[in-house]
Amino acid sequence: MFGGKGGLGKTTFSAATGYWLAEQGKKVLVFSVDPQASLSDIFQRDIFGKGAVNIKENLWAQEIDADSHIKAYQQEIRQKILDLYGFTEVLKKWRTTFKRRAPNRLWKSRPSSTQ
Ligand SMILES: Nc1ncnc2c1ncn2[C@@H]1O[C@H](COP(=O)(O)OP(=O)(O)O)[C@@H](O)[C@H]1O
Ligand SMILES: [Mg+2]
Repeated sequence: MFGGKGGLGKTTFSAATGYWLAEQGKKVLVFSVDPQASLSDIFQRDIFGKGAVNIKENLWAQEIDADSHIKAYQQEIRQKILDLYGFTEVLKKWRTTFKRRAPNRLWKSRPSSTQ
């Protein structure tokens, strides 16, 4: 695993090490969670958010689209909260009664703990 501050050469060394290990006959997956998608540049392939992509014999590369995973997870939690308190039904009633969009973030309008 290569770590450290930005621009030190983590991605370059990860890719080069993965390539070298693959040449030695080891099965290698090089992966990155960096949204900059540098592995796509290095391997000259559009691999961002596409799962493990085969680069050459024994070598796969993966760039995880962390932003979309976080957004999907937030939406899942949001829906669970809406379902738990029956807010989905409240929102549906709001829409049919007032014929307008209900606020998406009802829980944000709750009083803060300092009030
Ligand atoms: N050994 C090296 N010598 C010179 N330049 C390098 C070396 N390793 C990386 N670089 C350059 O430094 C920059 C940052 O490298 P990168 O691997 O993207 O860093 P990181 O992933 O740590 O942010 C890139 O432009 C890369 O081409
Ligand atoms: Mg990098």
